[in-house]
Amino acid sequence: MKVDLNTASDILLSGNIVAIPTETVYGLAADALNPDAVLQIFEAKKRPRFNPLICHLPDVADVKKYCHPPACLEVLASLWPGPLTILMPHNGSIPSLVTAGSSLCAFRVPSHPIALELLKKVRRPLAAPSANKSGRVSPVNAEMVEREFRGSLPVLDGGQCSVGLESTIVLANEDSVSILRNGKYTALDFENLGLKVEPPAEDIRAPGQMLRHYAPEVPLILLTVERKRVESEAMHVDAKSKIAWLGFRGSKPPFDAQVFELSQSGDLHEAARNLFFYFDRMARERFDYIVAELVPEEGIGLAINDRLRRAADMEGNVQNERLSAWRIMHV
Ligand code: TXA
Ligand code: MG
Repeated sequence: MKVDLNTASDILLSGNIVAIPTETVYGLAADALNPDAVLQIFEAKKRPRFNPLICHLPDVADVKKYCHPPACLEVLASLWPGPLTILMPHNGSIPSLVTAGSSLCAFRVPSHPIALELLKKVRRPLAAPSANKSGRVSPVNAEMVEREFRGSLPVLDGGQCSVGLESTIVLANEDSVSILRNGKYTALDFENLGLKVEPPAEDIRAPGQMLRHYAPEVPLILLTVERKRVESEAMHVDAKSKIAWLGFRGSKPPFDAQVFELSQSGDLHEAARNLFFYFDRMARERFDYIVAELVPEEGIGLAINDRLRRAADMEGNVQNERLSAWRIMHV
């Protein structure tokens, strides 16, 4: 059921959950300071409790009320409002259900105008993971949220997400960052801000960054280095399979398939916007397989490839034996 901004605000302030738009993906929001409300997020998503949630706030001044700011926050905050999540020590005021008991909390100031208006109205940190069931593709429009939860959740409609991939997550040290998840912003953007980028310590990984993640309903096969072999074998594709080709810059499938262009012109931002939208469309149009190639490893292309690799890495989801032999794991 779609709701307007005032209703969404009332729902949140009365301790319930509502799906909200952001510029990255839709989030399933609750008042982060109300553990009973936050619990509803975990239940609706069937999300394990050890997987912590991002707190959304309307500006950096509000973020500072809940964290011990590291020195580099000022510089990083120049990317706010926007698709950047900063992991830093909280000051004890964020319930442990939100942080999964960690001394670190993830904070983000989103740039979607409706999200900002809502955050300013409720003036509470909003805990919001992506508005999908645990382990599935993040929704990039209100209709995807409604289908995912079979209409059981109130949704504040803010149109199609302009970024289309989840935010970049960095761990903020005093004067350096470690990237835990690529999104629109990548190492180059942080280096351009004068920050050192260091590999994350072994024990600090975003718990949701397990490989089996972002699984589209339709099995995805990634063509990479073994493309030549795949092309020759592809001539024998089961003629009954309905295959979607995820193309980029006019690339053509090596077999009979319906072509979906991530971006005809080779624009990586357009490709990012289309990725989850196409996954959803391919599921609705009942394709048997999605076959994709990686896009150039630069800028947001790094995040697109990350999501493609994770999408391809589902065990046992390929029924067709011949196709399963072509799957290239852990590329
Ligand atoms: O773009 C986004 O980030 C969207 C929108 C709604 O803001 N949110 C989102 O949330 O993608 P979620 O929960 O689907 O992904 C957040 C990731 C998870 O992998 C989670 O484990 C990690 O951030 N995370 C959150 N809080 C953390 C913490 N305190 N320590 C380590 N990882 C954390
Ligand atoms: Mg998610």
